[in-house]
Amino acid sequence: LPVAPDPTALLAWYNRHRRKLPWRAERGASAEPYRVWLSEIMLQQTTVKAAGPYFLRFLQRFPDIQSLAAASLDEVLKLWAGLGYYSRARNLHACAKAVLERHGGRFPDSEAALLALPGVGPYTAAAIAAIAFDRPATVVDGNVERVVSRLFALEAPLPGAKPEIRRLAATLAPVSRHGDFAQAMMDLGATICTPRKPACALCPWSDACLARSQGAPETYPRKTPK
Ligand code: ADE
Repeated sequence: LPVAPDPTALLAWYNRHRRKLPWRAERGASAEPYRVWLSEIMLQQTTVKAAGPYFLRFLQRFPDIQSLAAASLDEVLKLWAGLGYYSRARNLHACAKAVLERHGGRFPDSEAALLALPGVGPYTAAAIAAIAFDRPATVVDGNVERVVSRLFALEAPLPGAKPEIRRLAATLAPVSRHGDFAQAMMDLGATICTPRKPACALCPWSDACLARSQGAPETYPRKTPK
């Protein structure tokens, strides 16, 4: 029978296998809130691979929130060209101004204050709180939904199962390294617990995974038939 999933096992795996991505800090350090925010907005509807060059160009032209807030919307939109979903770029500019006006140019560290900013939804607020401030926020994206569905062999289909997945995800949380844990969950979903042909032999949680013990991990998450 599977054992309980241990957050320490995932964090040990992350120590060895964490991906080097342009917005990530060095090992053991928290990334700047500005970089975390910018990357998470870009990554909402864009792949990690495609977002990389945009992220670096943005950072070069706008190294901090002050320079972004001072720019014209037109220039922001031009740098965004090719990423699509242009409301993200408009919100980006509005958010930079709001952080300057409401918070003196420093991102707040609470999910509630983050959530009140333009273009920042529950996912982004949790990601910034965890990754930039190491706060114990539950960060759930599509990768995390898949990992949790499989660990618990959740029979309830998406999207209805989202609240239950969030509840179960919160039970996995470590007592420290909240930012590393959030990113480890994403990396696990992106590289091991993939939609098709998951690499269970390489998974730090293989001995805890109910879907794997039942023999068909790739059949989770369940979907509502069309
Ligand atoms: N996808 C969205 N945010 C990410 C992050 N911080 N690391 C890896 N993949 C991601």
